[in-house]
Amino acid sequence: MAKIILTGDRPTGHLHLGHYVGSIKNRLTLQEKNDYDKLYIMIADAQALTDNFDNPSKVRNNVIEVALDYLACGINPQKVTMFIQSEISELTELTFYYMNLVTLSRLQRNPTVKNELKLRGFEKSIPSGFLNYPISQTADITAFEATCIPVGIDQLPMIEQAREIVHSFNSIYGETLKMPEALIPENKLEQRLPGTDGKNKMSKSLGNCIYLSDDEETIKKKVMSMYTDPNHIKVEDPGKVEGNVVFMYLDVFAKDEDFEKYLPNYKNLDELKKHYQQGGLGDMVIKKFLNNILQDILRPIRTRRKELENNIEYVYDILQKGTIEAKKHANNTLQKVKEAMKLNYFETDEFLKELIDKYQEK
Ligand code: TRP
Repeated sequence: MAKIILTGDRPTGHLHLGHYVGSIKNRLTLQEKNDYDKLYIMIADAQALTDNFDNPSKVRNNVIEVALDYLACGINPQKVTMFIQSEISELTELTFYYMNLVTLSRLQRNPTVKNELKLRGFEKSIPSGFLNYPISQTADITAFEATCIPVGIDQLPMIEQAREIVHSFNSIYGETLKMPEALIPENKLEQRLPGTDGKNKMSKSLGNCIYLSDDEETIKKKVMSMYTDPNHIKVEDPGKVEGNVVFMYLDVFAKDEDFEKYLPNYKNLDELKKHYQQGGLGDMVIKKFLNNILQDILRPIRTRRKELENNIEYVYDILQKGTIEAKKHANNTLQKVKEAMKLNYFETDEFLKELIDKYQEK
């Protein structure tokens, strides 16, 4: 069976470090492993509209920003098909048919949807498009026959919902759709990178993000203003490592080579942590170290992004070609779905034959 991978992001802003460790790194690893038949990355503009329907310019403008961020990180258009969701009208058609297979209460029980409804103040009057987006996401997944869906843990209920719809469709109309599975990052901190406030998940609405496109000064400022251990006031004071956002980031980003390069007095993170816990290690040292590491990661991404911005027609071209290719695949699946649902009247002469059998032979 073909191995098809599909993931996507909503184009509502620039991508940040949370996206980078939670999903992009994972995608780059998959891309380099090269053990798949197809890897699709979808820019989910139609889904973004479900809670930004009153701000279409925001969604439109961010389609290119997300594409630039992907490519700047090293997503390779030779190996990946990148496309724009709303251009694939087949997805809305599939959504319409899948809606028959899901109850309202099932949608309202989806924990991710529940949480998002609360965050958006949609609880009292739920836009039905928004409530339906797990169904439309099932269309995204099944249209491309994707079996492997690399996502963050907050998306697990979506994959669960998709699996239910696939199961239900296949039992009613016959084996047609492929069963998807989620692929989540192994590392707990990577699954949910905290924001620079150290409390919440990194998220644009909370203003605690380091963006992949941030300039050097901005990154430095954000790192230097990170809140560490409130009881670590003087350098001599023993400091806490748990819940200390600088150390959480070092856990994710620091490699032994970084110690050689920037803090040669320590062999690795364990030694640094020990010193901090004992006292005698100032916040400035660990923040500067983290800043150096993040600058090393983000500098090449930023440089590549600038190059791509200066070559924007190339990016446009990648999106357009990817979209054309994706549309073909989705259309092929839609034909299979309609055939399974007996909704193909004019594709073959079968329907006419049925009519003749029914009316003319008598
Ligand atoms: N819901 C995903 C998010 O908010 C984006 C998305 C849309 C997606 N369709 C998808 C992810 C299909 C994986 C598969 O991040």
